[in-house]
Amino acid sequence: MPNRRMFLKTLGTGLGLALVAPRRLLAQSPTTPAAQPSPPVAIDLAQVKKLRKVGGWMIIKVQGTQMLLLRDGPDSVRAFDPTCTHQQCTVAYNGRERRFDCPCHGASYDLDGTPRDRLPKGPLKRYPARLDGDRVIVELEAS
Ligand code: FES
Repeated sequence: MPNRRMFLKTLGTGLGLALVAPRRLLAQSPTTPAAQPSPPVAIDLAQVKKLRKVGGWMIIKVQGTQMLLLRDGPDSVRAFDPTCTHQQCTVAYNGRERRFDCPCHGASYDLDGTPRDRLPKGPLKRYPARLDGDRVIVELEAS
């Protein structure tokens, strides 16, 4: 038959377990996964023939995201959201002036997407992009 000391010792051990157990459960519970960045998208140059030569450009949809791609050098490509930040018209590349022009109200942007006048509310959204052999690699997370 357990005596009083034995009872309190057992009770104390039980309380200790009760206090420790929630931490263990919390430590073992699944955590919410952190938002993973979208993996880069590879586009074969055979599918975007206009980008085979320097100065070529085109607007395409990449996984539902509209994107203006510009081959700006032998080994480089740029990618932007072509939506003008003034009133959401679609800009086009002006190869003669080497800039992006908006046909709606005359705004223009330099090759980094920076507005050249005060009309736009901000720069064009730019996506990290690069050439990798015969592929254009684009990240869908804007930089
Ligand atoms: Fe582009 Fe107005 S929408 S300049």
